[in-house]
Amino acid sequence: MANHTLFLSLLALSCSLAIAYEPSPLQDFCVADPSSSAFVNGRACMDPKLVQADHFSFSGLHLPRNTSNKLGSVVSPVTVAQLPGLNTLGIALARIDYAPWGVVPPHVHPRGTEILTVLEGSLEVGFVTSNPENRLITKFLQMGDAFVFPVGLVHYQRNVGHGNAVSISALSSQNPGVITVANAVFGSNAPIPADTLVKAFQVDKNLVDYLQLTF
Ligand SMILES: *[C@@H]1O[C@H](CO)[C@@H](O)[C@H](O)[C@H]1NC(C)=O
Repeated sequence: MANHTLFLSLLALSCSLAIAYEPSPLQDFCVADPSSSAFVNGRACMDPKLVQADHFSFSGLHLPRNTSNKLGSVVSPVTVAQLPGLNTLGIALARIDYAPWGVVPPHVHPRGTEILTVLEGSLEVGFVTSNPENRLITKFLQMGDAFVFPVGLVHYQRNVGHGNAVSISALSSQNPGVITVANAVFGSNAPIPADTLVKAFQVDKNLVDYLQLTF
């Protein structure tokens, strides 16, 4: 009887874990239909008879992109928005170009674990565990090294070389989402009331005003 209860609890647990992220596909594919106005979890499927190879394809990931911006990095995402065949499949990827000392600032993917591989250059990467430890787990990566950022944790990358760097990431969602911490906290629309940020960050209002203008 105890065994039976344990089995049922484990079964319930595994089912709830299985549906916590993307549900398993119920057909071979469900290519996103850009013309559908249906609101579903993910995107509506286009007619399978109209599906072509190009719906499963994306090109240009070998091309370096311009990193002349404040951060010195640029992300080229390949999610369901760029590659409609990813719909319902629970996977996506991104190429990232880094200028020397360029940074991908602290951010979160609310729906996806990320595994990053360095293709060129060297990166410092890290993620921070949740409260109360807030432990920073960080590593220097060389070309060919891979590193995983667990779903939902704040993480960052920094090019620690004098040359350009390139990485490719795979993510466990068709639409992992990105929340850049600074933009969400100081650049929200409408702004979070300054008094809240003054207390949250234990700084004076001038600094909060400055950061809200910056983001
Ligand atoms: C890269 O972007 C910067 C800033 O937008 C621009 O000034 C520069 O000409 C661009 N470089 C190339 C090679 O396109």
